[in-house]
Amino acid sequence: MKPREIRPNVHLIGAIDWDRRLFDALIPLPHGTSYNAYFVQGSKKTALIDTVDPLFWETLEAQLDELPEPDYLVIQHTEQDHSGSTAKVLERYPDLKIVTNERCMKLTIDHLHVPQERFKVVADGDTLSLGDKTLKFVLTPWVHWPETMSTWLEEDKILFSCDFLGSHLATTDLYGGHAVVHGPAKRYYAEIMMPFATQVVKNLDKIGELPIEIVAPSHGPLHDKPKQIVDAYREWATGEPKNLVVIPWVTMHGSTKLMVDHLTDALVQRGVAVDRYDLSVVDLGELAQSLVDAATIVIGTCTVLKGPHPLAANAAFVANALKPKAVCATVVGSYGWGGKTVEKLVDMIGDLKLELFEPVLCKGMPRTEDYAALDTLAASIALEHEKLGVAPR
Ligand code: FEO
Repeated sequence: MKPREIRPNVHLIGAIDWDRRLFDALIPLPHGTSYNAYFVQGSKKTALIDTVDPLFWETLEAQLDELPEPDYLVIQHTEQDHSGSTAKVLERYPDLKIVTNERCMKLTIDHLHVPQERFKVVADGDTLSLGDKTLKFVLTPWVHWPETMSTWLEEDKILFSCDFLGSHLATTDLYGGHAVVHGPAKRYYAEIMMPFATQVVKNLDKIGELPIEIVAPSHGPLHDKPKQIVDAYREWATGEPKNLVVIPWVTMHGSTKLMVDHLTDALVQRGVAVDRYDLSVVDLGELAQSLVDAATIVIGTCTVLKGPHPLAANAAFVANALKPKAVCATVVGSYGWGGKTVEKLVDMIGDLKLELFEPVLCKGMPRTEDYAALDTLAASIALEHEKLGVAPR
């Protein structure tokens, strides 16, 4: 794609990756992604902000052919989907300086073996004049690496936010609206930013001091109504959990599915919403997105070799790592002759410090008393949600 001018002498460049379906060998990308870079041309100097995944260097190179030579490369984040073409940029422009913060410089040297003499280090709040345009560097650590920073283009009121406020979405739309914010951007928040909710809020407060007109992230469309994405982030990070139970479940011979079906009905009868995910086919991004809001997590699993099914263990690991705001949890499922399924799963979500409801495990196929126990569990969850004053979904 040709450079797209978003303000006079400010261009969106980079690459749309329509076909990528997995990120970090972990995160599904059902709608692809993009690696946005930006080019800011001042009256005296020019700056390239971030690069692209190395697989797309030739795309970026063709765009750079149409632009003046950059004096600076601003690296906002070391992860290689943005910094991975740095060596190519340095080779193409031998006099170019990399502008970044101290932490980012050190990480970039570690990851990319860039010579230290190519760097110009900036601190939080430092500015770089390009003539009639000024870049101000705003350190926004832990969204989602320790070195992450944003860049504020004062005259045009554009915040280049890198991963922060972005979305994995391949689209030709320059700007995203409500549907993007509450779809791909929420999913992105869940997968990438949710573990750092405290730092997210600190960084929202920090950028909240700026009169932003455009948020220009490094993935997905830009935001020309910045309040939409900023308010959404604040709600996801700090809002009360919702009257929602998330049930990731897996079954081998149908017993656990019968229990999950029964529990789902029992919760709905009591006015509690349920998002359930069959772990044998789940898109983990959808599960993560539900975890942004859920007050309670119920893991449904059969027993395999004395413990939970590996897919249930994986879901527990993911939930524990993502640090959702859920306050309660339990396990339902089945076993053949014994095991430590509950203990192992509870241990795996130990970082979340959740209040645990009495688990319900049946031997073989569920019987009347097992269904009754699930009804009791549903009633306990509904009562606890009421006591917590959870928000309607
Ligand atoms: Fe888009 Fe953390 O890299």
